[in-house]
Amino acid sequence: MRILVLNGPNLNLLGQREPDIYGSTTLDEIVKKITDRGKDLGVEVEAIQSNDEGALVTSVQKSIGRYDGIILNPAAYTHTSVALCDAIKAVPTPCVEVHLSNIYAREEYRHASLTAGACIGQISGFGDRSYVLALDAIVEYLRNRKSKEN
Ligand code: DQA
Repeated sequence: MRILVLNGPNLNLLGQREPDIYGSTTLDEIVKKITDRGKDLGVEVEAIQSNDEGALVTSVQKSIGRYDGIILNPAAYTHTSVALCDAIKAVPTPCVEVHLSNIYAREEYRHASLTAGACIGQISGFGDRSYVLALDAIVEYLRNRKSKEN
């Protein structure tokens, strides 16, 4: 099983970016944590970060046949991107949305997610743990789906 972890704009600055909100863990450290958890679960994890909306859309499109699932933190595009929402809907690859912060406890413009409705679920507010929780959730979802098929 292969899982793509896709991170949107400004998440390359984790560790130094508003640490009171996003914590002091860097993106590389988060990727290592998910990769290690993936090893425990027998799952391969690959991570891509982009500040560019089009590149994120392309990564979602290219997931077909390459990845079994996507963990997506669309960052600010969560609140603006119809294109990302459409891309998630356009591919069969199931997607879990993650946020480090609890977007519902922050500014009102962060309360709406345009992308979450296209995902199988959303995890928000557990800091870097959100990613590991999302990995556990998507692996369980994919394994349950497979066992139902058999
Ligand atoms: C974020 C929340 C977004 O509102 C924000 O624009 C981000 C990070 C999070 O992980 O908490 O860049 O997605």
